[in-house]
Amino acid sequence: MGRDIEQRILKEIKDLPPFSAIANRALKLTKDPRSSAIDISRVISYDPAFTARVLRMANSAYYGFARKVTTVSEAIVILGYETLKSVVLALTLQNFYDKEVRGYGLERGDLWKHSVGCALASRLIAGQVKYPSVEEAFVAGLLHDVGKVILNQFVGEEISKIIELSGSEGLSFAEAEKRVLGFDHQDIGSKVAEKWNFNEKVVEAIRSHHKPDRAKKDPELTAIVHVADFICLSLGLGIGSDGMLYPLKKEALDLLKLDELEIDNLIFSAYNITEEIEKILA
Ligand SMILES: [Fe+2]
Ligand SMILES: [Fe+2]
Repeated sequence: MGRDIEQRILKEIKDLPPFSAIANRALKLTKDPRSSAIDISRVISYDPAFTARVLRMANSAYYGFARKVTTVSEAIVILGYETLKSVVLALTLQNFYDKEVRGYGLERGDLWKHSVGCALASRLIAGQVKYPSVEEAFVAGLLHDVGKVILNQFVGEEISKIIELSGSEGLSFAEAEKRVLGFDHQDIGSKVAEKWNFNEKVVEAIRSHHKPDRAKKDPELTAIVHVADFICLSLGLGIGSDGMLYPLKKEALDLLKLDELEIDNLIFSAYNITEEIEKILA
């Protein structure tokens, strides 16, 4: 039965409705290996709302630029091509993110805030541990729970079985999903990311963010997203049923060479993220 649902979901992913005609064109360009950042900025510039979002993201305090970024092409240089791709994708999916994610006990917009928060926190951690590609960390953080949106749309009544099982057996949501469906939001999310041609490290971080010790290609990136996810839940960003059972894996901390005091400091530094998100999403 799990496979049936999975096939149905994968088929539906193919026909995800576009956020807007402009976003759709931008997405096509991001998938075209011949397109450049300039082509994309040209398309995005036609949509004022989209432009505003991209600029807000670039002007977020977490990018630490003293000077204000005022044009999309400048923002693309700062955000990087991969980040832009994920922002376009996330905005395309925002219709879904914005819905109430009922099965997970999340209210309208919560998952979106959680995702943007996790992107910012991943970036913060990446900077602290000197991970070579902070933008990749941002992208992986932004997309890590994309599978939840998709699952919530298609899994209907099974979701109550998942909630029940996680409650009665003290399982995390991902474990309960796996038990009931045969796959979890990490599996579905990584398939979405694969389909959109995100690189294999990002795909792996999405696939293993609850079990960072499974990561083989780039364990550091997966560990960053895992810790960022924990930090966001500690800050109350997107606490749903999933937030109650989120064990922080020691292996991830060891790999990143972070101790508990540093985690407390990171939580403290990430405190402004909530405010930052309101600004970005205003
Ligand atoms: Fe998750
Ligand atoms: Fe999460």
